Amino acid sequence: MTKVIGVISIKGGVGKTSTVISLGASLAKDFNQRVLIVDANFSAPNLGHHLGLIEPEKTIQDVISDKADIKDVIHEHEESGLHIIPAAMIARKVQDPFALKKKLNSIKKYYDYILIDSSPALNEEIVSAMTASDELFVVTTPDHPTLSCTLKAIKVAQQKNVPITGIILNKVRNKTYELSVDEIEKAAGIPVIASIKEHHYAVEAVAHQSPITTFREKSPISIEYKKLAAAMTGQHYMDPRFHARVVDSFRKTQPKEVINRHVLYYS
Ligand SMILES: Nc1ncnc2c1ncn2[C@@H]1O[C@H](COP(=O)(O)OP(=O)(O)O)[C@@H](O)[C@H]1O
Ligand SMILES: [Mg+2]
Repeated sequence: MTKVIGVISIKGGVGKTSTVISLGASLAKDFNQRVLIVDANFSAPNLGHHLGLIEPEKTIQDVISDKADIKDVIHEHEESGLHIIPAAMIARKVQDPFALKKKLNSIKKYYDYILIDSSPALNEEIVSAMTASDELFVVTTPDHPTLSCTLKAIKVAQQKNVPITGIILNKVRNKTYELSVDEIEKAAGIPVIASIKEHHYAVEAVAHQSPITTFREKSPISIEYKKLAAAMTGQHYMDPRFHARVVDSFRKTQPKEVINRHVLYYS
């Protein structure tokens, strides 16, 4: 059964596109899944840019306006095995918010996972991504302004009846001034399923036009995405860092986000 997962937040710069690429690349390369990533950030797309796909000839907008067949706009990223549908930077109102869902339905069977990157604007673009998804991951950073946007995103998804599986907490510095996993979960009523550190490798990966999970495969950011991908597929993943394994073995309890990942095994 294909899972179509929308990655959302009503704020730019929190890590939606990075998450779609890193998680998608790990699912494809580390866990042997057939993965398609789709840019549904129609007015400010950049999924292709992160992977060196600059100014593609045919895009998702051509598919939605019936100018191209969806199979003809799928690009392959050799290094990771990801399939990508990019978008073009043309500001045009989404006429039918169900069009994306309808178009994706015709190719769903070829994939294990379809991850949808979305627009941070609270308009028909995010609704289009939500309605095309079977479930959602919400990306947030651990600060009050972003959390308030996250709560709004959750409310909109609930109004649209699209289930939210979990929150991906990104750009974590482990500082006392940050909101904790517990505080975020309490405010949102949704489990945090990954806690990703802030590190310049994430920015370097974009400059290198590679997913961080292949560019810096043993970095803490990559390992957290790989652990999330492992939980999603029900596969085992061993942390390659000896030190981390030793620290883990002495822990009395696992971090909250690790425990929460059990929701993914049964979904
Ligand atoms: N964990 C992280 N640590 C440091 N920088 C990050 C991290 N995740 C993302 N970034 C950087 O933040 C910027 C915005 O990320 P992006 O994924 O484009 O966000 P969004 O899609 O939500 O707008 C990019 O430059 C990206 O490299
Ligand atoms: Mg983005």
